[in-house]
Amino acid sequence: MTRNITVKPDSITTKDDVVILPLFSKTRKLQGSAAALNRSCKSLISHYLDKGMFSAETGETLLVGLRFPKSPSHVLLLGLGERGKLDAETAASVGGAASKALSRNKFKSAALITDHALAGEDLPRFVRSFVKGFELAQYSYSLKKKPPKPAPFSRLTVLTDGDRGQLTDVIRRARVTAQGAAHARDMVNTPANILTPVELAKRARAISKEHAIACRVIGPAEMKKEKMGAILDVAEGSREEPRLIVMEYNKAQKELPLVCLVGKGVTFDSGGISLKQWNGMHEMKGDMGGAAVVINTIAAAASLELPVRVTAVVPAVENMPDGTALKPGDVVTTYSGETIEVLTTDAEGRLILADALTYVRKNFKPAVTIDFATLTGAVLIALGTRIAGVMGNTQPEIDRLLAAGAKAGEPAWQLPLDDHFYKSVKGDFTDYKNYSGRDGSTITAAAFIGKFAGDAPWIHVDIAGTFWNWGNGTSYQTKGATGYGVDLALQFLEDFAASQPS
Ligand code: BES
Ligand code: MN
Ligand code: ZN
Repeated sequence: MTRNITVKPDSITTKDDVVILPLFSKTRKLQGSAAALNRSCKSLISHYLDKGMFSAETGETLLVGLRFPKSPSHVLLLGLGERGKLDAETAASVGGAASKALSRNKFKSAALITDHALAGEDLPRFVRSFVKGFELAQYSYSLKKKPPKPAPFSRLTVLTDGDRGQLTDVIRRARVTAQGAAHARDMVNTPANILTPVELAKRARAISKEHAIACRVIGPAEMKKEKMGAILDVAEGSREEPRLIVMEYNKAQKELPLVCLVGKGVTFDSGGISLKQWNGMHEMKGDMGGAAVVINTIAAAASLELPVRVTAVVPAVENMPDGTALKPGDVVTTYSGETIEVLTTDAEGRLILADALTYVRKNFKPAVTIDFATLTGAVLIALGTRIAGVMGNTQPEIDRLLAAGAKAGEPAWQLPLDDHFYKSVKGDFTDYKNYSGRDGSTITAAAFIGKFAGDAPWIHVDIAGTFWNWGNGTSYQTKGATGYGVDLALQFLEDFAASQPS
C-alpha cells in the first residue's frame, strides 16, 4: 500500500518524480494545468498527441522524460478511453495501470492532474476508484522462503482546485476498501492446509478484536446440541472441525437498522465423495471467498464507522471424502428441521448456507440478509469473470445492490428467480434435494438457499466467476484471488445507511 496519499492545490511542482496526466482519446487541446505542463516542456506532450504516438485507450500508458528547467522530470500519459464511458470499473483499471507503470519504472512518488480531462467528470467517484485500483495493483502474495520485500510507493498527491476535504474523505474510504479487498485476497490465496475452519475463526476473532466487533464462534458440541445437521454432515468427512462464526458490528446500537451478511466458508472443496476432477481443484482453497468478503466488509464498515448495524455469519467447513463422509443418497436433517436428499456431495455450499440462514432467522431480524458464495461453476459460464450473479426475494434491495455494484466498479447482474425454480428444489421423498439438474443450475442453487430464507428479505450473490483471476483479469487484479465483493458490499452498506431516516 502507498504510504501517503494526499490532496493538494493545483500546482505542478518539480518535486514529484512524475506527474500523471490522464487523457481521453481524441484529445486535441490541453487545458488548465495540462496546458501549463505542456508549456513547461516546450509542447513535447502535444507533440506526442499530434503524432498519434499516444492514443489514450483505456489503461494505455506512456512515460515521457522531460528534463526541462521548469518541468517535472517525467510525465506519465494515462489513457482514460472514450469520453462519456468513464465508469467506476474503468477508473479502477486506469488506477491499476498507472500504478503498474510507475512501479515498473521504480518511481516512488507521483502527482495526479485532475483539472484537465477530469474537469467534466464526477471527480470524487473517479478518485475513489482510481485509488482503489492504484493500491490493489501493488498487491502480492508470497509463501516463499525469501519473500520479495514489499517496496511500497511512498507518495501519491492528488492535485485539485476543488473541495480538498471531500477528496480526502473519498481517499480514506478507497484505502479502507483496498485494504479490505487485499485481506480478502490473502484469505482466499492462503492454502487450505493453513486456512482451516478453525484458523478462519481465529482470524475472524482477531479482526473482531481489532475493530471492537463482537464475535462468537460455535463449535461442533454446540452445533450438535442445536442440531445444525447440514453443517455437521458436510464437515463429517474431514478431520477439520467445523465452525460457525458470528460477528456483530454496532451490536448494542439497537436503534440502527440491521443488515446480515452471510459468507460461504468452505476452506477446501474436494467435492467430497462426489469427488471433483484434479484439474483446477487447487482453486477450491478459495471456496471460502464469500466468507472472506463478509468478514473483511464488516471490518471495513467498522473502520469507517458506518451508521448501520451489521452481522456477519460464516459457516466454515472442509468438504472431504473419507469413510465417515456424507454419501450421495444420504438424507440430512437441517437446523430448520427440514430434510434434504443429498444427490451430490459437491453441492455442499447450499447445505451449509441452509443452516447459516436458519441461524440468522432464529437469532436476528435484519432489514435484509445478503449471502456471498462461490456457489456454482455455472455462473462463470453465464456471466464470465467480471460480473457476479444476483438473485433474491426483495426487488428494492436487489436494485440497491446492483446500483452499488455499478458504483463500486464490481458489476452484478440479476438472474430470474421465479416459482418454477423454487419448485425444482422439492425432494421426491424429502423436503428438498440438493441438485436439480444442470439446466439453470445457478438459479436452482439460489432457489434452494431461498427456501431457508423464508419470507425474510434476502439476496444471494454468486461470486464463483469473480472471486478468482485465472489470468485474464483487469490491471489491478493479480493472479489468484480478486477480493471481488468487498467494495460492492461496503457500498451497499453505505447506501443503505444513507437511505435510512435519521
Ligand atoms: N465450490 C463449487 C463451485 C465453484 C466452481 C466455485 C468453480 C468456484 C469455481 C461448488 O461447491 C460446486 O461444486 N458446485 C457444483 C454444483 C453442482 C454439483 C450442482 C458445480 O458448480 O459444478
Ligand atoms: Mn462443491
Ligand atoms: Zn463449493
